[in-house]
Amino acid sequence: MSKYAKRIPAMEGEVKKLKVLTDALISPTIVSFAGGAPAKEAYPFDQIREICNDVFQPNATGFGAMAYGSQIGNLALREAVRDYLLKPRGLDVSVDNIMITAGGIQPLNFMCSLYLDPGDTILVETPTFVHADMIFKMFQANFVPCKMDEYGLVMEDVEEKIKKYNPKFIYTIPTFQNPTGVTLSRERRKKLAELANQYDVMVLEDDPYREIRYSGEELIPIKAFDQKDNVIFSGSFSKIFSPGSRLGFLVASDDQIAKFCNIKLGSDTCTNTMAQAIAAEFFKRGYYPQHLENLKNLYRSRRDAMIKALDAYFPAGTKHTYPDGGYYVWAELPEGLDATALAQEIGEKLNICYGNGSIFYSEGNPEGAGNNCMRLNFSGQTEESIEKNFKLLGEFFTAKLNEK
Ligand SMILES: Cc1ncc(COP(=O)(O)O)c(C=O)c1O
Repeated sequence: MSKYAKRIPAMEGEVKKLKVLTDALISPTIVSFAGGAPAKEAYPFDQIREICNDVFQPNATGFGAMAYGSQIGNLALREAVRDYLLKPRGLDVSVDNIMITAGGIQPLNFMCSLYLDPGDTILVETPTFVHADMIFKMFQANFVPCKMDEYGLVMEDVEEKIKKYNPKFIYTIPTFQNPTGVTLSRERRKKLAELANQYDVMVLEDDPYREIRYSGEELIPIKAFDQKDNVIFSGSFSKIFSPGSRLGFLVASDDQIAKFCNIKLGSDTCTNTMAQAIAAEFFKRGYYPQHLENLKNLYRSRRDAMIKALDAYFPAGTKHTYPDGGYYVWAELPEGLDATALAQEIGEKLNICYGNGSIFYSEGNPEGAGNNCMRLNFSGQTEESIEKNFKLLGEFFTAKLNEK
């Protein structure tokens, strides 16, 4: 009999799926459309060097950056979150309701710690973020997949499943969803908050891509419609600053924040104070707005290059999303092409990888769901690389189709 806790085998299937993506991220040789990292050109090296030189001095700021910190996080950084990332986006909250976390992943863990007992049910989008699935599995959750269309989660399906399964919470990535790039409409954001309030179900609004919009109108968060503290909003600095800083944040009520602080104390004591001090200074010095503009300009061209290459080179009948922001396009190959089954051959012959669609389908979906789909990341490759490698991919898929 294994001595390991039940959660260890429970999460293994999801870990395997996730490793496909994380291994591709660090391989130096493969051309990867599988990842979800910022472009190398997107890091603000000059500003960070300057900030580090100023911050790491033996004075109050320097000591603060080297010492233990509070559980709720650096005040200057929470002010920056309020002033730059929340208020202008339609969420007007106090700094006391903002907590800095270790990446945008930690709020997912904390949500489970606060609300989930083994065997509890979570409603998830279909498809959904595989890393989230892995965390939910670690907490021994049951998944109930919900339907999505081009406007995000379908509310009739969500309501039916709330009634049927009495879930602890609903997990949604409402803006430029990972993996599809789809955005939840304003009406549905409002409706989801209303359903959460009506049935007293929690919602985890995971929104790490919201800042990086290239087209379309800005939409206020679900949390802005929440009347009864049923929605926890979470964000990340990974896509807009640096994933290595491991900084994220969550927004919750006074009582929920107090509980999350207790969980933080029991997990990692406090978020990395060095990273918080550097990021806080980045915002305080006014570098963020121009930096964000640069990111958007860089990625907008890459998104456009990817859409153009998909339309030009992929076989007739290929469908894809047209994301207004974020990092991913979701493509569905014509009948008879299995992107998951072909991934290894493509890796060996073309030295290219992508996110196999099937890994984003949680338990509870039919066997083989998503096999003909691909998550295609455009942030990490130049326009030239997208053009060149999508031509190769398109020709490969067309040849496979003609073999049939
Ligand atoms: C949907 C979603 N949530 C959360 C995160 C947070 O990641 P991190 O912990 O790197 O900030 C990511 C990153 O890829 C993501 O795609």
